[in-house]
Amino acid sequence: MKSMLSVVLGLVATCVLGAETIKLPAPDADSGVTVMQALKARHSERAFSDKDVPMDVLSGVLWAANGFNRPDKRTNATGLNKQTIMVYVVMKSGAYRYDAKENVLVKVCGEDLRQAIAAQQAFAATAPVSLLIAADLRDPIYAGARSVLSSYDAGIVSGNIYLYCAANGLATVCRRTMDQDALKKALKLPDTTVLHLNHPIGYPAVAISR
Ligand SMILES: Cc1cc2nc3c(=O)[nH]c(=O)nc-3n(C[C@H](O)[C@H](O)[C@H](O)COP(=O)(O)O)c2cc1C
Repeated sequence: MKSMLSVVLGLVATCVLGAETIKLPAPDADSGVTVMQALKARHSERAFSDKDVPMDVLSGVLWAANGFNRPDKRTNATGLNKQTIMVYVVMKSGAYRYDAKENVLVKVCGEDLRQAIAAQQAFAATAPVSLLIAADLRDPIYAGARSVLSSYDAGIVSGNIYLYCAANGLATVCRRTMDQDALKKALKLPDTTVLHLNHPIGYPAVAISR
């Protein structure tokens, strides 16, 4: 009983105290193929090999998703330029918030949350990395009809992720499916945060011939 309690306390402590950060390599703006080639290759893929996604590739896909391409603006457009989208990285070693300004991953939980990302779609837990697209809607501007804006914002981030993956030989699929309650609890997110979409990412399980 005592050891069980210490395991539970350990997990809680990992989520609360994990202030670890990982410095990402600078994104390589010259990687990939032409936009037309990426559009031609873009598709959803649901089978992943066990090869890890290297940090330079992770840095590239995060930058494509929601990075800064100008001092105060990003690769993804946002309604009213609110820039409320947050991208979390979920992998075996834990869950991290992408800090685009500093180009670092800030650890927010020490647990492997890929099962919560997968929910009833088991294939998603086999991807080495998942990106979780969330939005903080605490700004009163999102009250009423404008609450839909952040869903559009999330769709644009998802499109950027698809294109980066297509251009760099990665497999991914945009998903609404996930265990929202488990993720919000583990990531300690307030009620004002909405979890829109997630993208399992990895290398394709089988080589695609085109
Ligand atoms: C908003 C949205 C939600 C989606 N949710 C899921 C999902 O939960 N699970 C899944 O396997 N695919 C999901 N998809 C992927 C679609 O099934 C996929 O894009 C569609 O079948 C077309 O295939 P393609 O992306 O290869 O063109 C979603 C796509 C979008 C845009």
